[in-house]
Amino acid sequence: MVPVHPRVLADLGRALSLELTAVQQYLTQAVLVQSWGDSPSADRFRRETVEEMQHAERLVKRMVQLGFSPGASQLRPATHAADLEGLLRLNAELEHQLISHYANALELCHRIGDAENGAFFHALWQEEQRHGEEMAAWLESLRPQTARFPVGVAV
Ligand SMILES: [Fe+2]
Ligand SMILES: [Fe+2]
Repeated sequence: MVPVHPRVLADLGRALSLELTAVQQYLTQAVLVQSWGDSPSADRFRRETVEEMQHAERLVKRMVQLGFSPGASQLRPATHAADLEGLLRLNAELEHQLISHYANALELCHRIGDAENGAFFHALWQEEQRHGEEMAAWLESLRPQTARFPVGVAV
């Protein structure tokens, strides 16, 4: 088996911590917004939970393939807000952390010439970017139409 740089392993572990934090956060939000009577948003948060769980599974699989036991160590408590907009703002922060973590991991792999793990992180980086954009679009859709553009600006 090809030896893996310890920092690549550390990045896999931190990624797992972040993905599982996202699982817990979106699952909590599904329950919370359901209690507010907002079933469509609850369903969407459940789908987000599944997506993050699939990312976590890919990380676990990768670590097992590399011969290491997965050990996420920094599962953070789910954050709370008073309304859907507030929740989505918190999620944008979490998605941003995931995107920058994968970007850094990708850059590390590039520097040390680890193409295989680099490709692995690259795929997750792209997916989190798309995910971050979707979350931002959801947040934007909550704003009143008239508030989206300053008055008098042609769009
Ligand atoms: Fe994810
Ligand atoms: Fe995500």
